[in-house]
Amino acid sequence: MDQKVQDRELIQAAIEARKQAYAPYSEYLVGAALLAEDGEIYRGCNIENASYGATNCAERTAFFKAVSQGKRNFRAIAIVGGSREAEQGAPFPDMAYPCGICRQVMREFCGPDFRILVGRSTEDFQEYTLDELLPESFGPAWTHRDV
Ligand code: THU
Repeated sequence: MDQKVQDRELIQAAIEARKQAYAPYSEYLVGAALLAEDGEIYRGCNIENASYGATNCAERTAFFKAVSQGKRNFRAIAIVGGSREAEQGAPFPDMAYPCGICRQVMREFCGPDFRILVGRSTEDFQEYTLDELLPESFGPAWTHRDV
């Protein structure tokens, strides 16, 4: 499939994933869609907690779902986010960049060319590599991924 079309589909999956966000405290809703090497897409949303530190980001939700189902190789992740006022959905006012902890979780399973799509809508998104968003990183040394 055409790369651009595939990217738009991944952003759309992230927009759908955001609808499940549980964020009563921050009211900032995030959705992520993780594309595994085999073509399967894993959706994730942020899941907050009254004990704030127990909150899980959308990106990690997607990764943990995929890894817990046996997946270890990934091509790309799409991320969208916006406050509850952006209830109508895309386009969101801002790009939702992954937090540092989520970048580190990506680093555990992905190589430097892993693609990170950060979008406001299916028509307005930017593409980065993991190496661009997490340069000079620390990662597992036991695999070919550590390049
Ligand atoms: N959040 C994510 O889901 N992903 C990120 O990369 C940044 C932050 C969530 C966590 C929390 O529920 C809300 O956004 C506000 O920080």
